[in-house]
Amino acid sequence: MVKETVLIAGLGLIGGSLALNIKEVENVHIIGYDANRSSLDYCIMNGIVDEVYDDFAEAVKLADICILAAPVSITVDLIHQLNHITLDKELLVTDVGSVKSLIMEAAEQLTSDLVTFIGGHPMAGSHKKGIQAARAHLFENAIYVLSPTEKSNEEQLDKLKALLSPTKCKFLILDPEEHDEMTSVISHFPHLIASSLVHQARNWQIKHPYIPKLAAGGFRDITRIASSNPVMWRDIFFQNKEKMSRLLADWIEEMQQLKELIDTGEKQQIETYLEQSRDYRDGLDSKKKGAILSYYDLYVDIFDQPGALLKVAGLLAEHDISINNIEILEIREGITGVLRLSFQNKNDQQLSNAILKKHKYETLIEE
Ligand SMILES: NC(=O)c1ccc[n+]([C@@H]2O[C@H](COP(=O)([O-])OP(=O)(O)OC[C@H]3O[C@@H](n4cnc5c(N)ncnc54)[C@H](O)[C@@H]3O)[C@@H](O)[C@H]2O)c1
Repeated sequence: MVKETVLIAGLGLIGGSLALNIKEVENVHIIGYDANRSSLDYCIMNGIVDEVYDDFAEAVKLADICILAAPVSITVDLIHQLNHITLDKELLVTDVGSVKSLIMEAAEQLTSDLVTFIGGHPMAGSHKKGIQAARAHLFENAIYVLSPTEKSNEEQLDKLKALLSPTKCKFLILDPEEHDEMTSVISHFPHLIASSLVHQARNWQIKHPYIPKLAAGGFRDITRIASSNPVMWRDIFFQNKEKMSRLLADWIEEMQQLKELIDTGEKQQIETYLEQSRDYRDGLDSKKKGAILSYYDLYVDIFDQPGALLKVAGLLAEHDISINNIEILEIREGITGVLRLSFQNKNDQQLSNAILKKHKYETLIEE
């Protein structure tokens, strides 16, 4: 069987992590292109791709499938470049950009009959960037949005899904406009707010130098995403500028209303506001909800002691229980903290609960 050549253009966190998965697919030859020579060298040294190129045109001519995994503005440029490269075989192109509309607009201007585009966005990431942060498991259980175009067909979509199947993602077909509107609300805009909360704390620190020591669980939870790659997020905000501006205007208006409720002492209305947001937030975690992934969580109290985490994980490993996610919700020096262990099925959750209880751990399962 003839090997298919897959080009990954942009070998950073996402491109490198995809390469590590695509390596698992049989009969695939992976080639890489990146503007950064040291990323290419790292990929060869660590066997992440089979061959590297520092010229996009040269590499793409060899490819059957091309995954554009550079920053969004560069991805748009690379799509435009495709119109000036003479290909002699069919090429299926996809991307991984967090904002879809501009990329899909560029893809609509592709002139060659040989080129077909299907938009893509694996909705998983990390606060780290670059090839050294690439991990094969990055996309496990995450949503992978695919946006077919008028020119693409089912066979090409299936081909792409098969290539990406080792990621263990859940594919979701969305149109680019829907994608950008939804991701603005649940990802891009919260990022802006998280960053603004950090700025607010930093400003107050001038008056209260002790603030960083008080910044425990809640503040860290809500601002965790503010630690992500600033260049990538700047790109996202500007590529999705109109939607961000609209959400900011809505937010300012809502904050104005909240301010009035606080200023005028409307306790009942504030309570109702908090109740409504709690109920909606709790509903998001519900095991019954559709697209939002459901996990079976178990809360375990632990002490801040060396090896505390290892002990819990070790007990479950002895019973061959796989933990999907571990989160330390709140822990300060010397006091009890809470671990949130997430399992993929109820059986593992219940069994873990029984094992940890037997070893005198305080546990909780939320109904
Ligand atoms: N990081 C995330 O959380 C995340 C999640 C989903 C999708 N994405 C999307 O993935 C894409 C890449 O993001 P990342 O997090 O992997 O960033 P990254 O900084 O880790 O990697 C980007 C790579 O692109 C390369 N690059 C930059 N300019 C280039 C050029 N002109 N030609 C070729 N390569 C070039 C860089 O050298 C780097 O290796 C972005 O479009 C982003 O929107 C990111």
